Amino acid sequence: MLQPAIITIDGPAASGKSTLGALLAKQLGYTYFDTGVLYRALTYLALAQGIAPDDVPALVRLAEQMNAHVEPPTLEDGRQYTVTADGQDITWAIREPEVERHVSAVSAHPAVRTALREQQRVIGRRGRVVMVGRDIGNVVMPDADFKIFLLASAEERARRRHHELISQGREASFEQVFEDLRRRDALDAQNTLQPADAYIVNSDGLSPADIVGKLCAVLEQRTRG
Ligand code: DC
Repeated sequence: MLQPAIITIDGPAASGKSTLGALLAKQLGYTYFDTGVLYRALTYLALAQGIAPDDVPALVRLAEQMNAHVEPPTLEDGRQYTVTADGQDITWAIREPEVERHVSAVSAHPAVRTALREQQRVIGRRGRVVMVGRDIGNVVMPDADFKIFLLASAEERARRRHHELISQGREASFEQVFEDLRRRDALDAQNTLQPADAYIVNSDGLSPADIVGKLCAVLEQRTRG
């Protein structure tokens, strides 16, 4: 099978990018890099330091100094990877509702995106990587070998997110999850970019394993030319 050096997966919130990315990376023996982690880590650190989500100069300074790392899981507690910032394990902290509420606003600032772009490229350029995000195929890694854009209906995405929260023991109504998702969609819309040369997958009704199977078949077909 063709072994592209860089595979990108972009798409809206809760479209199944993370599950798919992790599975595809595992199947190929690649590094899995969820770029949303950097935006979340920045938001977490900003909140911890009392930096407002609209204080762009302070956010940019923090982004440039931030010492965030994504490593293989260090604990078996359901995590896909371990995230650290300045040596502190923030894997679960970056998933807290407080971060969730502010991360779209923080990541909407073009100067913040520029500051985090280079950090993403450094990891991407090492190759043999599946990079997941919103603008990876278009902006961060426009020369990637294989670009995927993952779609799913808002209802399906809200159902998945709701299920995820309930299984974590959190209280959430479907209506609230659906509303939050639409709010995030609106905030993220400008930076969720579908590359012109992307392979588009609608994940409604498909399991991650189904999609990985489909993608591997496409990769194989491309090799044969
Ligand atoms: O995929 P996620 O929910 O972990 O992303 C968190 C936030 O970061 C979301 O508001 C969109 C933003 N993000 C982005 O703007 N660009 C990326 N490449 C990845 C994430």
